[in-house]
Amino acid sequence: MTDNTPAYSGPERVFSGMQPSGDLHLGNYLGALINWVGLQDTHDCIYCVVDLHAITVPQDPETLARQTREIAAAYLASGVDPERSIVFAQSSVPAHFELAWYFNCTARMGWVERMTQFKDKAGKDAERASVGLFTYPVLQAADILAYKATHVPVGEDQKQHLELSRDVADRFNRDFDRPGFFPLPEPIIQGPGARIMSLKDGTKKMSKSDPSELSRINLIDDADTIAKKIRKARTDTDPIPGTEEGLEGRPEVDNLVGIFAALSGRSKSDILSEFEGQGFGAFKPALAELAVESLGPVTNEMRRLMNDPAEIDRALESGAERARAISEPIMDEVRQVIGFWRP
Ligand code: TYM
Repeated sequence: MTDNTPAYSGPERVFSGMQPSGDLHLGNYLGALINWVGLQDTHDCIYCVVDLHAITVPQDPETLARQTREIAAAYLASGVDPERSIVFAQSSVPAHFELAWYFNCTARMGWVERMTQFKDKAGKDAERASVGLFTYPVLQAADILAYKATHVPVGEDQKQHLELSRDVADRFNRDFDRPGFFPLPEPIIQGPGARIMSLKDGTKKMSKSDPSELSRINLIDDADTIAKKIRKARTDTDPIPGTEEGLEGRPEVDNLVGIFAALSGRSKSDILSEFEGQGFGAFKPALAELAVESLGPVTNEMRRLMNDPAEIDRALESGAERARAISEPIMDEVRQVIGFWRP
């Protein structure tokens, strides 16, 4: 797509975000959060609570405010360091609103119409969905490019949105004949946690909108709840295979092995060679123990932070200030590129 146009030559920067529209679950944690933490060692990172995205469907105001803090608490509790990285709420930085409008005028209807997540979320009654839900991926492009971010760590379900962000950046650069003005942001989708599936149906992704609580492990679940959900997770009656090929056609088993691998930082084949030939009577308790051990400290730290929200608020306030300091000069440049009149 970029053929021979000069590439972006600015600094590397990481941007990502999560919606404050329900409890975070194991998919959010393994697909995104643990990678965010690692990236802090090598990159300047910006991690946003995307409250503007949340209001594309109705939200109760009090719940929205509480969940915004809760998501920020989950970031910090997982190891995002608000001194090193920027942590903030999207609505407190005007560049997101502004660039989203410019990009609404850059993105093409056909591109946005192809987005499968809109079709999934709007369901059969797309006519009644908000216009915001439709242009949601355009706002996502604005989030990333308001900071000229070059890398975006996400789970696999965000791949299509990231492709749209690249198309928008490329189109803007071409429309205004400014090659390399915006970077074409690259997704970082990595590890066995990139696509965590429902515990009840290995063909559906783990999601906060699944009506069954047993389908997901939430970050705020206590040890007993985690153990119960793993015990009740769907499996089959065959023993655990010794190789990854043996997982084919067994999506629920594949998913549990993937969760084990992601939580332990080991590969799936390593896990399989440990449990080869065993039944789930041995595997599930081991997985439950690992999950409780890994998530317990995160849950406890989240609870501590939520009991004293001043610490979260300080992080969000200083994060917003730092995010504005980066995005404002970029917005000045963008306005100039577009050609807005200024006295
Ligand atoms: P959201 O809030 O749905 O999810 C947050 C992150 O969690 C990942 N994720 C998963 N990973 C693996 N398995 C799963 N079952 C699973 N479920 C969710 C998501 O891929 C995501 O990384 N549109 C985004 C938020 C957003 C954003 C952005 C992300 C807004 N602006 C800019 C990156 C850059 C979303 O709704 O994520």
